[in-house]
Parts: sequence; structure tokens; C-alpha cells
Amino acid sequence: MARDLGRGWRVPLLVLGMLSLAAGVDAGLLRLGWLLPAPGAATVLDHGPLMICGFFGTVISLERAVALGARWAYLAPLCAGLGGLALLAGFSPLPASALMLAGAGLLSAATWQLYRRQPALHTLVLLVAAAAWAAGSALEIAGWGVPAVVPLWTAFLVLTIAGERLELSRFLPPSAVARRAFAIIVALLLAGAVASVADLAAGGSLFAAALLALAAWLLRQDIARRTIRERGLTRFVAACLLPGYAWLGIGALVLLADGGLLPGSPGYDAGLHALLIGFVLSMVFGHALIIFPAVLGLRLAYGAIFYAPLLLLHLSVLLRVGGDLAGAGTLRGMGGLLTAAALLLFILTLLAAGLRARRN
Ligand code: HEM
Repeated sequence: MARDLGRGWRVPLLVLGMLSLAAGVDAGLLRLGWLLPAPGAATVLDHGPLMICGFFGTVISLERAVALGARWAYLAPLCAGLGGLALLAGFSPLPASALMLAGAGLLSAATWQLYRRQPALHTLVLLVAAAAWAAGSALEIAGWGVPAVVPLWTAFLVLTIAGERLELSRFLPPSAVARRAFAIIVALLLAGAVASVADLAAGGSLFAAALLALAAWLLRQDIARRTIRERGLTRFVAACLLPGYAWLGIGALVLLADGGLLPGSPGYDAGLHALLIGFVLSMVFGHALIIFPAVLGLRLAYGAIFYAPLLLLHLSVLLRVGGDLAGAGTLRGMGGLLTAAALLLFILTLLAAGLRARRN
């Protein structure tokens, strides 16, 4: 009997994650003042949990389960996705958060198995990332507010990406000194996220300083600096990564100037979304054309049209961050709307690429 789950089972799990994405974006736009229908019974305050645990938790766990090839690991995306659904269906917050925590715990267990199979710095970083999600969700259940756990949840996404980029750097291996610097940056980032639980100013500043160092490390070490001179998909991926690293640095600088991750301050929205949209979503755009075929077994035909949603995404962050820092609510609102448009356009472009590959 096969230990892995058939590909057909992966699609409903992905759809569960996409439900959280749609609801999370809706909640975010409502929070920016756009008059839209409510995302089911979820509230605007569920935006962060829906985006990070419901959407990213589900898709990252799904990708990890495929990498591990063990059936039990698919319980992680199932729990995270059901957690998002529970928020939309109007369950009290506890069952939703408990399901998301179960997803985070299962992802940590799956990543532990991967680490044991391949003990290396990059698998260790993926393990730390999953544990950061689990710690953030456990603290949320224990009564800490969402802003207190946002650094841990953000660390989950940033470290997952950093770990995966480190793995890909085997084509241009970093020196021993560079690897040591990477390990120190990861340790500082984690220390900052943990310290933020008690003190959002001091912990948030350490967290932001580590993010800045990570941006510099990635810009210097990543193979994207070379592959940007290639053609086609390889160049597109680099064109997603390099501005993404720049947004990581800009987001970190904004948070540092703002004195940490302080909800309600002008830099909170700007710094956080420079990281979460400018860096994280840009990475998603860059890796989707490689990950989707691997996870779903679909073929996608790459075309230069993929630059359209990418440009829109970066324009949206520019408006959002500029609007935040200039105190221009209209620009900030337009930025949020354009991010939603960029996401929609990217999904439609992916679907068209799938159809084109089938026709060919
Ligand atoms: C269309 C895209 C988005 C819109 C319109 C949006 C909107 C917002 C708004 C208005 C806030 C409150 C900011 C404040 O209090 O100053 C917020 C906070 C937050 N957003 Fe977004 N956002 C978007 C994308 C994202 C993405 C892609 C992620 C995650 C990857 C994300 C995660 C968060 C988190 C974790 C918070 C903090 C939660 C909290 O303080 O309750 N957002 N977002």
C-alpha cells in the first residue's frame, strides 16, 4: 500500500487553504475601509490568523507532506485549513485556534522527520520555522493577543523561505563564514520574535534588525543575482526574489525606525506588509510555477504574461507603504485593493498557464 496520499486528495486541501486566502484578503480590505460583504462569520480581526495560519499554514504543510511522502503528514494541512473554515463558519475562536495549533504541531513533527532524514542547516531552519508557528498559536490560545504573536508567525514564513533558499544555494554554496553568519541571523531573529511576546518594542527591534541582516545576506548570497541574466522562467524567478529581498530590507528599516512592531503606529501596517506582501507574496509568485506542478502533478506553461501580476504586486506595496508613511489613507487603501487584484490576476494567469500546457 502506498504511504503517500494520491494527488487527487491534495486538491481539496489546497482549496481549503484558498478559502482562507479569499476570506483573509476580504477581512484585510474591510479593515482598510472598503465596503465589501463580510467573509462569512469571520471578523476583520481574523485577518492575520486567516492569512498566516489558515492560508500559509495549509499550503506550507501540504508542500511539506508531499516532500515527506507520508500520509499522516497530510493531517497538518487538513487541520490548518479546517481551522480557517471554523473561523468562517462562526465557531467560537477556541476550536479554530486549536485546529491551527494542531496543524502547526503536525507540521513540526513532519519537519522533524525530514530533519532526521537529512540533518542539515536548511532542514533545521525549516524545523525552527514550524516551531515558531506552533509557539505563536499556543500563546494565542493561552490568551496573548494577535499582535504579540505576529513576530513568531512572521518568523514562521520568513524562516521557511530562508530555509528553502539556503537549500537551493547548493548550486552556489555559501562559504563556511557565510553559513555561520546565516545561523547567527536565524538565532537573533528567533530571539527577537520570542522577546516580542513580552516586549513588542525591544523584541520587535531585535527582530527587525535580524530581518535587515537576513535581507543583506540573501541579496549577497542568493543565486538570483546571477540568474537574473538568464531567460524565461529562471529570470522570472530571480525577478521575484530580488525585489522581494529589497522589500524585506525596507520593511525591517521601517520597523526599526518605528521602534519595533507596535500596533496602531504608522510603521506597523507599512513595515508588516512590506514584509508579508513585498517579500513573502513575491516569493510565492516566484516559486508557484515550480511548486504547483510538484504538488499537484500539473504542467504549467510559463509566459512573459506572469510579469503583469508581479508588477502589480510591487506597485501595490509601493502605494501601501508610501500611503502609510505619508499618512495618505486613500493611497494606503488603493495599495490594499491592488494587492488583491494582483493576487487574482496571478491565480488567473496560473489557470491559463495550466490550460495552455494541456493544449500543447
Ligand atoms: C490585500 C492584501 C492585504 C490587506 C488589504 C491587508 C490589510 C491589513 C490591515 C488593514 C491590517 C491592520 C494594520 C494595522 O492595524 O495598522 C493588517 C494587519 C495584518 N496583516 Fe494584512 N493585509 C493584506 C495582506 C496580508 C498578507 C499577505 C498577510 C500575511 C502573509 C497579512 C498578515 C497580516 C497580519 C499578521 C496583520 C497583523 C494582525 C493584527 O494586528 O491583527 N496581511 N492587514
